[in-house]
Amino acid sequence: MSNIVADVVVDVQHGDCGKGKITHHLARTGNYTHVVRYNGGHNAGHTIYHEGKKFVTHVIPCGVFFGIESIIGPGCVVNPKRLLEEMAELRDAGIEIDNLLSIAKNAHIVTDWHLMEDGKDEKIGTTKRGNGPAYRDKYARKGVRAEQVPELQEYLIDVYQEFHHNVEHETVEILFEGAQGFGLDVDWGDYPYVTSSHCTVGGAILNGIPAQSIRKVYGAAKIYETYVGAKEFGMEEGIEAKVIREFGEEFGATTGRPRKIDWFDLDAVAKATDINGLTTLVINKVDVLEKVGRFMIYHGDNKFEFDTIDDMKYYIEEHLKRNNFEVIFSGNKDRI
Ligand code: IMO
Ligand code: MG
Repeated sequence: MSNIVADVVVDVQHGDCGKGKITHHLARTGNYTHVVRYNGGHNAGHTIYHEGKKFVTHVIPCGVFFGIESIIGPGCVVNPKRLLEEMAELRDAGIEIDNLLSIAKNAHIVTDWHLMEDGKDEKIGTTKRGNGPAYRDKYARKGVRAEQVPELQEYLIDVYQEFHHNVEHETVEILFEGAQGFGLDVDWGDYPYVTSSHCTVGGAILNGIPAQSIRKVYGAAKIYETYVGAKEFGMEEGIEAKVIREFGEEFGATTGRPRKIDWFDLDAVAKATDINGLTTLVINKVDVLEKVGRFMIYHGDNKFEFDTIDDMKYYIEEHLKRNNFEVIFSGNKDRI
């Protein structure tokens, strides 16, 4: 039996809060034996700056940048054609992925039919990557698993054996890379404007690890909010939204759609902090808000404006104070 220790990176808003940046940083500095994507599929777009170069990953965990075994977990859905394309892109960019990347044999497949169906979505504003139909068929017990797909055979892995009976490592130390975010979670998000998977720390546990193996839970947030999809969201399209979008590069990494923008919602972040049991919250893109020069948050039924960014940071920290919990502020330009 192996010992299992797991750290998890979750997003506490509506996705796109810098999970790629945080997992990339942790993968580099930690002692992880594995990096595991635990939910979602090609709907995700994780922006990573590696050795000065920009990468956008969709389903491949960021362990491959550091020679760490990387697994697409059982909680994910995979489009084989897109996966092979993403692998080729990374290989072409000089990232070694062969012998590092595997797919849980019980992960589910996004079929051409799922893609076509999701392509017609108008109600939710999905990324049209087939996720909803793939998860629907998984739960309806008529889905296709990775183990049934001939072109994936060489990449398949049994995560139970890998995590619990690992012959190489006495202690298996896993970094879980989440996708989407709390506001898009199928249970906790603004239903039906949600994705179809579990984006909380609970989603990571579904990938074959015991609950008590969780050590640290890192939350990714931004100092303002963004959302992509069909529901009404955000502030009026004025100069502030424009500046945030421009300096924050707030366009979908997967679909290129402009992200809708709003001020920071303190209660929503507090709820996600509690439900995920965060040990660390990283609030990104502070420098982008400084460019705008307006420091607003929603708290309770009120909207507060602060004179300075420091006042705003102090207020947020005070209200999020919890036991064994820290808040770290970071800038968009703090690229690791
Ligand atoms: P990362 O991992 C932001 C949104 C879509 C849509 C809703 C449902 O980069 O943070 P889906 O295709 O999942 O059925 O669409 O969820 N969405 C995301 N928004 N970041 C993501 O991923 C997202 N993945 C899905 O825009 O509103
Ligand atoms: Mg993204």
